[in-house]
Amino acid sequence: MIQLDGVGQVFDGREGQVTALEKIDLHVRDGEFVTLIGRSGCGKSTLLRLIAGLISPTSGSVQVAGEPVTGPRRDVSFMFQRPALLPWRSVLSNVMLPVEIDGGAGDRRESRGRAAYRRSGRAAGRCRSDRSLRRARGGPPRAGSLPG
Ligand SMILES: Nc1ncnc2c1ncn2[C@@H]1O[C@H](COP(=O)(O)OP(=O)(O)OP(=O)(O)O)[C@@H](O)[C@H]1O
Ligand SMILES: [Mg+2]
Repeated sequence: MIQLDGVGQVFDGREGQVTALEKIDLHVRDGEFVTLIGRSGCGKSTLLRLIAGLISPTSGSVQVAGEPVTGPRRDVSFMFQRPALLPWRSVLSNVMLPVEIDGGAGDRRESRGRAAYRRSGRAAGRCRSDRSLRRARGGPPRAGSLPG
């Protein structure tokens, strides 16, 4: 369950304050599939960042699974609009990064990373998992940023 009540988000932009969201109420029930559609700059990514706990609302409240969102949660995955990958790392170690941050058991990290790579990175990138992204042919595979 995702619940936003009276959510507003104001950013301090270079040319003054930007109101990205104002008085947003959104209730998503378990199992519902929701798509956000709107013109560029209308606040779609801002809304997703709030739900993922990457930013806090200026006003109103955001809840996931009945709890106020106070930071990133392990049960919420977020795929960035642009790939958030580290070019000096190999394809596989980019895939493993979330597992590292998560503090997953060291001996299981690589097998989890390889399984995630098989599911996503290889199909999209067609490059060897031990290649650094900088050297991967055809540019970084977007799927490398998919949560494992
Ligand atoms: N960190 C920030 N600082 C200042 N302004 C911001 C910040 N993040 C977003 N904005 C502004 O808030 C508004 C909403 O931005 P947002 O990225 O949520 O739009 P969007 O609907 O995802 O757009 P797009 O379809 O182009 O991805 C825009 O005017 C944007 O410039
Ligand atoms: Mg966006």
